[in-house]
Amino acid sequence: MQNFEQFLIDNLPTSTSIHPTYEKALQEMLRAGGKKFRPALLLGVVNAYNPLMVESARYAAYAIELLHTYSLIHDDLPSMDNSPLRRGKPTLHVVYDEVTAILVGDALNTYSFEVLSNAPFSDYIKVKLIQELAYNGGLNGMVLGQAIDCYFENQPLSIDDVKILHTNKTAKLIAASLKMGAIIVGREDLGEKLYDFGIKLGVLFQIQDDILDVTQSSEEAGKLTNNDEDKNSFVTLIGLDESIKEANALAEELEKELSSFDDSLRDELSELLLQYINRHK
Ligand code: IPE
Ligand code: IPE
Ligand code: MG
Ligand code: MG
Ligand code: MG
Repeated sequence: MQNFEQFLIDNLPTSTSIHPTYEKALQEMLRAGGKKFRPALLLGVVNAYNPLMVESARYAAYAIELLHTYSLIHDDLPSMDNSPLRRGKPTLHVVYDEVTAILVGDALNTYSFEVLSNAPFSDYIKVKLIQELAYNGGLNGMVLGQAIDCYFENQPLSIDDVKILHTNKTAKLIAASLKMGAIIVGREDLGEKLYDFGIKLGVLFQIQDDILDVTQSSEEAGKLTNNDEDKNSFVTLIGLDESIKEANALAEELEKELSSFDDSLRDELSELLLQYINRHK
């Protein structure tokens, strides 16, 4: 990931505008850090099957991180989760204003596809990657999930519907990260299996995020915690203890599936996956 961090810094979005703070605001949340889980998944799959392609694959990893970062900036807006802290830094609508946060989000969203379109792959691969990111990060994926999340605030959903919510707002982008890795190395057959695994992993990721929301301080999380009691989550619907049990069961299922991966993928991804699969413990 060291390489990727540097690549991200070297390729920060820039502009030559008369606007005094636009460029700084564009870069702020990308510079702030974050776990870079989605890029690590994509690059891990590529490294497992074709290490020579890792350098080119950083464009796709970066595109996912750009889109994810835009989703966080919008998620924190006063009209959504109204959060003043992200990645250990004050959010853009606090530092600048709401207009800046909305527009920086919009800019990172489209820049993500610009970066992907400039990646050193064949046009066929690039179109496949763009389709995957657009489908999972957009109206059929993350955006739909966020719409459901915000619409049903203060209206309890069933646990099955919460799984649909988590699948869309969080899991599809995580699943797409794995699948895009498979597309880059020309293993579309494997892409479907990894996508299904990624959906379960992403649902677990969101359950864990909601567990950590009530167990971590804002300083530990780098974002405002205990802020989601009006939301639909495992924690708000079935309580912390039951949520941990559900997370444990899903973690066990994923560990089993991980052991069925072929040797190169297991060797490459086990450490990262086990760390995340167990992060609620
Ligand atoms: C936060 O994602 C939003 C969710 C989907 C829960 P991350 O936990 O990956 O946030 P960063 O990228 O590390 O800041
Ligand atoms: C948001 O879920 C998922 C996104 C699509 C951004 P949360 O609202 O729980 O994410 P955090 O806790 O603010 O990072
Ligand atoms: Mg949210
Ligand atoms: Mg939030
Ligand atoms: Mg959260």
